[in-house]
Amino acid sequence: MWHKVRFGVLVGMLLAGGLWATSHHHKHAHKKQQQEEKQLEGPQPLVSDTEIGLRTIPLEDEKDLKLHSYDFHKKPPGESQRFERAYENAPPMIPHDTTGLLPITKESNQCLGCHAPDVASSVGATPVPKSHLFDFRNNHPTKDGNVSDARFNCTQCHAPQANAQPLVKNNFKPVFTNKTLEFRSDFMDVVDVGVKGANTKGSSKP
Ligand code: HEC
Ligand code: HEC
Repeated sequence: MWHKVRFGVLVGMLLAGGLWATSHHHKHAHKKQQQEEKQLEGPQPLVSDTEIGLRTIPLEDEKDLKLHSYDFHKKPPGESQRFERAYENAPPMIPHDTTGLLPITKESNQCLGCHAPDVASSVGATPVPKSHLFDFRNNHPTKDGNVSDARFNCTQCHAPQANAQPLVKNNFKPVFTNKTLEFRSDFMDVVDVGVKGANTKGSSKP
């Protein structure tokens, strides 16, 4: 009889201990899982994505986004007016319509149809400058006066201008060395300025 009671107590203690251990383990595992899930979500943002810019629309959804209306210049080449350079030797903006001229492909570059040095003056276009006929990687003019491959994709640097109003005021004011540089570049004449000994190296002059 006494034995049985002792045995019962023992079994009971074992059971209780087992239960406590498993529940403790479960609780622990649950907490760990929650922590891992939180980590997967990444750090919590301190500022909402609607507060970080002028857009005020969630970055992951475009449905409420309203664009201001804007137009690119519609005047065809020859009827437009060139823009003042953004700063000295900046790539000029395209002042004319580009409809039908893009995209530029390996087979077809219509820009060169007017801006290649040998045709430009006959169509009243500005010829590509000397810098576009120079291989800067190997430091010599390109073969046969061709436009460098690095300059073939004109719209990589030259963009048309839209009549959109800036959302943020820009206080930048360019300073030009002289008046002509507001509408022309002289990049190749000044590319070595400030480079010590640049004009003696590789030059045929002693
Ligand atoms: C049909 C001839 C023609 C074609 C094709 C053409 N342009 Fe022009 N481009 C001109 C003329 C002419 C001007 C001078 C301004 C004017 O009257 O439009 C000009 C001006 C420019 C200017 C401004 C130059 C400056 O000094 O401010 C850039 C940049 C330009 N074009 C880039 C391009 C690019 C890039 C393409 C190809 C997408 C292209 N053009 C295709 C004729 C052409
Ligand atoms: C890697 C950028 C880049 C690419 C690509 C490029 N340009 Fe330019 N372009 C410039 C910069 C910068 C200038 C001004 C400085 C200079 O003359 O090098 C310029 C100047 C010009 C000018 C004005 C020349 C002058 O006398 O004021 C014309 C026209 C022009 N580019 C046409 C083109 C055309 C057409 C193509 C494509 C065949 C082209 N560019 C490709 C960067 C580029």
